[in-house]
This record gives sequence, structure tokens and C-alpha cells, in this order.
Amino acid sequence: MSCIIKTESEIAKIRTSGKLAAEVLEMIKEHLQPKISTEDINKICHDYIVYKQKAIPACLGYHGFPKSICISINDVVCHGIPNKNQIFKEGDIVNIDVAVMKNNYYGDVSKMFFIGKTSLLSKRLCQIAQESLYLSLKTVKPGIPLYKVGRIIQNYVEKHNFSVVKEYCGHGIGRDFHEEPHVLHYQNKENNIILEKGMIFTIEPMINSGNSQVECMKDGWTVKTKDHSLSAQYEHTVLVTEYGCEILTWQKDENISRKLVNTN
Ligand code: MF3
Ligand code: CO
Repeated sequence: MSCIIKTESEIAKIRTSGKLAAEVLEMIKEHLQPKISTEDINKICHDYIVYKQKAIPACLGYHGFPKSICISINDVVCHGIPNKNQIFKEGDIVNIDVAVMKNNYYGDVSKMFFIGKTSLLSKRLCQIAQESLYLSLKTVKPGIPLYKVGRIIQNYVEKHNFSVVKEYCGHGIGRDFHEEPHVLHYQNKENNIILEKGMIFTIEPMINSGNSQVECMKDGWTVKTKDHSLSAQYEHTVLVTEYGCEILTWQKDENISRKLVNTN
């Protein structure tokens, strides 16, 4: 486990891993079409990570997870297992969650994709989830307590009548996939560690269109909304910088800068 404050050389390595993870999402976009299976998508990502990036897919074998990425469709909240019998169909909303290890350091990212035309509700849910992440990124800087991140996400999501999943949180990341601190996506004043330059963690809110309750399926991984409502998640790996933060898993098509100065 690396220290909660990363050294310059660790930061450089996590920046590389973050960039690779983001590039997998950029690469896979064009393959996400009706009729392709989640297993096919897993294979394309696996081969890209292993043979092109010469990196290691971090999910594969993690506590026994059987595939290289997580694919979570519609009412699946997270940790969906790719499967050859699961076929994308028009209207699906899909989270692809990619974590890679390169030079012994991890990067972790996820985002939503739309299969063909999707409902207004789906689009709105994904938009609010992404905006909640962006709003939280715009507050990250040295000196603020970590619970501010959760408070901003929860307030924004609930204002739009959606709900925040409480069971899963963001995490420190570095030499280990999951490190301290826990990054809650809701307000909890006990989450009072103060951010410092050099910390690296993920923020990865999961947002439901119905209530916040979730349940894990018998496969031991797939998490669904209890009320079968839709769920959306966006995730970034973030470095706290002197005056704000740097999004280590930033992608070219994003509506936010890679480096944020948050001086307000
Ligand atoms: N990427 C997920 C996270 O943010 C990890 C899922 S663990 C897996 O923590 F084994 F399901 F891949
Ligand atoms: Co994560």
C-alpha cells in the first residue's frame, strides 16, 4: 500500500495508468452497438490492454472477478460480469468500468454509453450523474474536508429527484487498486480528512432513477437496483494539485478541463 500522499515518481506512474484506462474507453466507443455481446466487448478491451498497452487489466482475478472489465447495463448498478449471452439492444444505457495496472500502479475510470436511441429519462439520469461528478471535481483542492465531495454530489442528485447509492464508494488508488481514503458520495461528517496536495483517489458516484436501495445477485458480483429502476455511474481518478485537481483519467470528448483551478 502506498502512502496517502504520493511522491512525484508515483504520480507520474499513476498518470500513465490513468491515461491508459481512459484510452480504453475512447477505443471501445465505436464497438458499442446493438447485437454485440458484453463478452465480445470484454475481449476487445482485454486484448487492447494486454497486447497494445502492455498493461494488466486490474479487474481480472480481483477477489475472483472472472473478466477484465465490468459492464453494467440499465438496472445494473455496478460490477456486471461480461457474458456471451448478454447482447446489447437499442435503448440500453451501459457503464463500462476499466481499471489497469502499469509499472505496478493503478488507474480506474468508468463512464456511460448509449446504445442507439435511448429514453429521455436515461439521458437525463446519465447527465445528472456526470454533472454531479464534475461539480465535485470543481471543489477538490487542498484544505477542504473530504465530506464536501459527498455533500455536493448528494445535494445535486437529490435536487433532481434521483438517489445516490450508499453501499459503494470511491477510494484512494496507487500501488494498490483500493487504498485509503474512502470517498463517500453522500454527506457524512465523519469523512473529515482534509485534502492535501499529492493525494490521488477516485470519485465514482452511482445514481439511481428510483430509490437508492441495491441488491447483489447470486453470482456474487452483479449489483442491481432493488426497484429495477435505471442506474448510472461516472468515475474519474483524480490528483489533488496546489490549487485544484488534475483528472488523471480525462478523455478528449469531455466537457471539463483536465486540469482544474478551484480557487473559489
Ligand atoms: N472499478 C471498480 C472500482 O471502482 C472495481 C470493481 S472490482 C471488480 O472499484 F472486480 F469488480 F472489477
Ligand atoms: Co474505482
